[in-house]
Amino acid sequence: MLEELVGESTSVNLNGKVVELPVVTGSEGEKGLDVSQLRKESGYITLDPAYGNTGACESSICFIDGEKGILRYWGIPIEQLAEKSSFIETTYLLLYGKLPSQQELTQLSQRISKNLTIPDLVKKLYSNFSDETHPMALLSAVVSALSGYDKKQSSLEQSEVDIDETSIRLIGQFPAIAAAIYRKKIGKEFIEPDPKATYTENLVRMMFGETDLEKQITPEAIEALDMLLILHADHEQNCSTSAVQLVGSSRTNLYASIAAGIAALWGPWHGGANQDVMVMLQKIKDSGGDVQKYVEIAKDKNSKVRLSGFGHRVYKTFDPRAKVIKSVCDKVLEKMGVNNPLLEIAKELEQTALQDEYFIQRKLYPNVDFYSGIIYKAIGIPTDMFTVMFAMGRLPGWIAHWKEMLTSKPSRIGRPRQIYVGPTKTDYTPVDQRS
Ligand code: CMC
Repeated sequence: MLEELVGESTSVNLNGKVVELPVVTGSEGEKGLDVSQLRKESGYITLDPAYGNTGACESSICFIDGEKGILRYWGIPIEQLAEKSSFIETTYLLLYGKLPSQQELTQLSQRISKNLTIPDLVKKLYSNFSDETHPMALLSAVVSALSGYDKKQSSLEQSEVDIDETSIRLIGQFPAIAAAIYRKKIGKEFIEPDPKATYTENLVRMMFGETDLEKQITPEAIEALDMLLILHADHEQNCSTSAVQLVGSSRTNLYASIAAGIAALWGPWHGGANQDVMVMLQKIKDSGGDVQKYVEIAKDKNSKVRLSGFGHRVYKTFDPRAKVIKSVCDKVLEKMGVNNPLLEIAKELEQTALQDEYFIQRKLYPNVDFYSGIIYKAIGIPTDMFTVMFAMGRLPGWIAHWKEMLTSKPSRIGRPRQIYVGPTKTDYTPVDQRS
């Protein structure tokens, strides 16, 4: 039973034993109870399946207010970054905690550009994978394997400089890896980057090649893709970032930690939802466009179907990233001269769900994945590459949290507890005596 809040702590009375729990207050007034000493002092642990009410750490990187639809990186609203920043500038902000000067920004761009190469490993490895392998499986495998090509990774305790170098190398190599995954899948040669082109231009260039350059690399396409990368760049303690931190807490290297994040992101309830949304919209279109029917299926628990791109653990009014994407979606498609009937179905689906009591009661709104696929599709990115794009955007966020975890105090291995509900002590019975 919880007793009243007293100053900077509260006390809890557990079977007559009173335990003081310090109150931790964040810079935006969020409050948490520090239960780290609870078990030592009382024998109790806290139970919170899926961590809906558990703070895993204190962090300075990202702030979300799910009730008000607020998302900020190092205090800067996501709407301002999406409109005014670039992905590389946002990367600087996430990694170093401040906006760069012009000189710092140029230096970072040059350092990243220097690493914009297709690692040899990628060329060798890809020939051994089936064309049916999902791009996220390839991405995770390649990123993990890159650790073998970075000598610095052999030391358990890297210096800050080494960690920084590894981070920049990985960010630089990511578009080449993503593009190579796509080229391998369509059976085409890899394309080398253009050292004069920007990060996002190179991504598109390496994916689509010289022949399609004119069509694909319009300023609108590059701008839209860069904005999507910014919108995906961080999101505090989500499933994949928590995976990166948990894996990294065992002092595994950055590559392996990021590979774990990629695996976590792949799932359809997390980053894989962007692919799932397009599959869902196409299914609705192919079956005659009956949006209401699909909403009814998504409400039926027996169907095991959810409305992809809807709902969020934290956002309970709207997802600010979805708001930005929706507001530019029409504009981007118009500028690019693309007419996608799936956009109309998406809009109708959104309206229908938003007026439905089931979704209202549960506070389920469109999330970042609901409209992002429409833009990826307009640029020409194939559906099974959508989550790879999400991963590329999220990379600086993962790295920032990984670094913060390593330098936080106390820096311990992540290791949750459990409440055991299995059989009590049971003696072994030899097989011939079992009934
Ligand atoms: N369609 C239908 N019902 C839903 C949906 C949905 N998309 N999302 C949640 N619900 C229901 C859920 O069945 C539960 O109902 P009830 O109370 O009757 O049991 C209630 O809403 C609460 O759901 P929950 O599973 O407790 O919510 P959660 O916070 O654990 O899950 C979520 C969040 C995002 C996994 C979930 O909303 C979902 O599966 N959405 C669809 C997949 C999706 O779009 N994922 C992308 C998330 S945003 C990108 C990212 O950052 O990952």
